[in-house]
Amino acid sequence: MTIKNVTVLGSGIMGHGIAQVSATAGYNVVLRDIEQKFLDKAMERVKWSLDKLVSKQKLSQEEADQVYSRITPKIDLAESVKNCDLVIEAVPEIMELKKKVYSELESVADKNTLFATNTSTLPITEVAKTTNRPEKFIGVHFFNPPQIMKLVEVIPGEKTPSEVTQTMVDFVKSIKKEPVICKKDVPGFIVNRIFIPLVHEAAWVMQREGATMQQIDSAVKFKLGFPMGIFELADFTGLDVIHKATHEMHSRDKKVINPHPKIEELYNDKKLGQKTGSGFYEYSGDKYQRIELSEHLAGSCNPIHLVANMINNAAWLVTNKVSDIPEIEKALRLGMGIKKPIFETAKEFGFENIVTSLLSLAKEHGQFYEPDPLLESMK
Ligand SMILES: NC(=O)c1ccc[n+]([C@@H]2O[C@H](COP(=O)([O-])OP(=O)(O)OC[C@H]3O[C@@H](n4cnc5c(N)ncnc54)[C@H](O)[C@@H]3O)[C@@H](O)[C@H]2O)c1
Repeated sequence: MTIKNVTVLGSGIMGHGIAQVSATAGYNVVLRDIEQKFLDKAMERVKWSLDKLVSKQKLSQEEADQVYSRITPKIDLAESVKNCDLVIEAVPEIMELKKKVYSELESVADKNTLFATNTSTLPITEVAKTTNRPEKFIGVHFFNPPQIMKLVEVIPGEKTPSEVTQTMVDFVKSIKKEPVICKKDVPGFIVNRIFIPLVHEAAWVMQREGATMQQIDSAVKFKLGFPMGIFELADFTGLDVIHKATHEMHSRDKKVINPHPKIEELYNDKKLGQKTGSGFYEYSGDKYQRIELSEHLAGSCNPIHLVANMINNAAWLVTNKVSDIPEIEKALRLGMGIKKPIFETAKEFGFENIVTSLLSLAKEHGQFYEPDPLLESMK
């Protein structure tokens, strides 16, 4: 399967970036949306981003112009997918909308065209089933912003053959991104399966152990090698995104996440984080603000329950043959910016101590906390 022509459906936050990185790699790209005003805004964003690369001397003006001209914005769907080898769908995360988009799409797309969804929370197999080509369907999960984030999770659905997975891995490499294959279509894939439950666990630690948000965040940053605190990261990501991911994941697998009511509460109060000026923390102005975190504050919080939560979910991924330790570490480094491998952190805390902590949490708070057999074997 050779890919030359790519159509991106949806020109929003993700779609315009995916179009740009594909065009930068030399693909002919059609960017499709439902109204001209969305396309105009998307092309403006592409231009802004290319101008920035020119000013940083990462691209020449001529190269930037060529990249820009390789993206054709279009509204008509049939025209958008003419001669298209790969469709990357990045329309809003609503199953009913995705279903509608795929039913329109398959009536006009060539039968050999590959479909890839950029969904972050919906199971690939469920989306694939809504189409007439689950064997030409795959998940390709870019991170925001696609122009900068190197990681792309590639997720085959139940019926995706290995050649399609390989084609997608080759495509991801060709656009200078780092693919990590999520070998099974599990809720949260790899990164969100570690990240989202950790936000909830941090809220439980705050409630049960009486640590403050700053103490917990300082420990996460300075003891676990995160680029920022976990509550900070939640506010940065958006509580709406976390809320949606929580529901999608928890409705399919109770073992992955122990939902803390604080997330529901913040979401219902429209405290969605940085973008609304309030979330776990309060913010003023729309510019990204950092919270005061320090090694001193980190000293007053032992984050073993956070390490236990993170490593237990990572171990689950290994035990269930979704991924392996080096690939999980790569995904967390590139997708979340975690500087220190989590299995190294866990070793420092001691697998024996982690298993003991999980067993005592399980005794007190239920089987969610039962340690994965892999951790027992690493003691
Ligand atoms: N924003 C993120 O951080 C992020 C990260 C990874 C994955 N994702 C996933 O990417 C997808 C898109 O998210 P987003 O944040 O870019 O959304 P967005 O709302 O910014 O953009 C979606 C775009 O799709 C357009 N659209 C709606 N119906 C359409 C149709 N029928 N055909 C073509 N375009 C249509 C909308 O007009 C809009 O421009 C979702 O599945 C989301 O879960 C988002």
